[in-house]
Amino acid sequence: MNKVESIKAYPFLLNGEWKSSTSERTIEMQSPSGAGIPGKVQAMTESEVNTALTGAKDAQKEWGRKSFDERARLLYSWADQLLLMKDEIAETIMKEVGKGLASAEKEVIRTADFIKYTAEEGKRLHGELINGGSFNSGSANKFALVNRNPVGVVLAISPFNYPVNLAAAKIAPALIAGNAVVFKPATQGAISGTRMIEALDKAGLPSGLVNLVTGKGSEIGDYLITHPLVDLINFTGGSDTGKSISEKASMVPVILELGGKDPAIVLEDADLDKAASDIVSGGFSYSGQRCTAIKRVLVIDNKADKLVENIKEKMESLKVGAPEDNADVTPLINRKATDFVTGLIEDAIEKGARVVSGNHREGNLIYPTLLDCVTKNMAIAWEEPFGPVIPVIRVESVDEAIDIANESQYGLQASIFTKNMEQAIRIGNELEVGSVQINGKTERGPDHFPFLGVKSSGVGVQGIRKSIESMTREKVTVLNMSQG
Ligand code: G3H
Repeated sequence: MNKVESIKAYPFLLNGEWKSSTSERTIEMQSPSGAGIPGKVQAMTESEVNTALTGAKDAQKEWGRKSFDERARLLYSWADQLLLMKDEIAETIMKEVGKGLASAEKEVIRTADFIKYTAEEGKRLHGELINGGSFNSGSANKFALVNRNPVGVVLAISPFNYPVNLAAAKIAPALIAGNAVVFKPATQGAISGTRMIEALDKAGLPSGLVNLVTGKGSEIGDYLITHPLVDLINFTGGSDTGKSISEKASMVPVILELGGKDPAIVLEDADLDKAASDIVSGGFSYSGQRCTAIKRVLVIDNKADKLVENIKEKMESLKVGAPEDNADVTPLINRKATDFVTGLIEDAIEKGARVVSGNHREGNLIYPTLLDCVTKNMAIAWEEPFGPVIPVIRVESVDEAIDIANESQYGLQASIFTKNMEQAIRIGNELEVGSVQINGKTERGPDHFPFLGVKSSGVGVQGIRKSIESMTREKVTVLNMSQG
């Protein structure tokens, strides 16, 4: 059989039917490790994208009238179908985005849990009644009924690094709130996203309620984002793309989960062993390709030698290699991303950083790299590598650590390692980030915690309850009671 014929071309779901594009063009996915092509997705036309949005708009009308219980039933069934497909979906994630098989399986299980919790939480989305009596100016006879209504059609755009979880984390809350969804996965990750939608279709998805759009962002991205039928955009990805979406979306509300440069701030009284463990797992899991990865260490100078030694020791137990072998550090998503990380490492070394470990590359695989004595004139001090490299910046004082942490354009999360809780809380209050982790690594979960970034790290709040709220709008109905 000829090689091209053996590559599966995945269809897209449009108004209840699995289809191939009239463009007769497909996009081939390259495996991060260079080991073959996991499949192809359709390059949809603008006209097909328009049909997806129109179909979603129509489907939302009936869905928005359904009870929370009925909506929850679809979500439970989706979670069940995902678990039935767990092995095949995990294998797809592994091949398509190079995630270790065990982590890919965990992603599917986490997603099913997320969907079930969302179904439960949606049922508790009650409104409120506000008594107008607190003002003197004749408002005592007024009552406001405040309800949360669906926004309409949500455009969900997911990234490559959690092609199933970060897609469902948008779609499930949107659906339980009564919205329809047009789902556009990142090109690399689109096969995994398609398999997840297969599970949703098997669960009994009403026609058009979730339409799947595949194609290159450079071809259909602007058309999608500026389409008049989009009522809200929920995007996870790079900060530059997020800013561009936000500008183009104009008055359409956006929820953006973007990049980060999460610091681990290690104080003199910290448990260095615990800090080192968290820095290694927080910085290197899935090769650092997580928005919440620890991306710099700010350590008080007199503890730096010991901490660096400790991190180096723990890095030795990291498994480097193929996703099939459950390695922690696997080839990065593509060559461009790998070149970028290599460039940051080289710049730091040229400017005097010390390589403690790593700095070895094989194709798209970069060995976990620890750089000590990193200074503010090096790009790695500020840029988000999205790869397996951690820079250590030595500081003289807590205030210097706070200043450097806040000098960043990003503000997603930060970790503080110390035994002094009062001090940790004071520092946490001064850090310009969405979440502070005291004595723990930076991470999004558990998934019902509020999750947000400030500055270039995002707009809006997610986390199951917050995501549902963020994808609804309040409707205020004022009852003016007679005063007699
Ligand atoms: O890449 C961005 C993700 O939201 C990070 O999620 O902390 O669960 O890895 P995570």
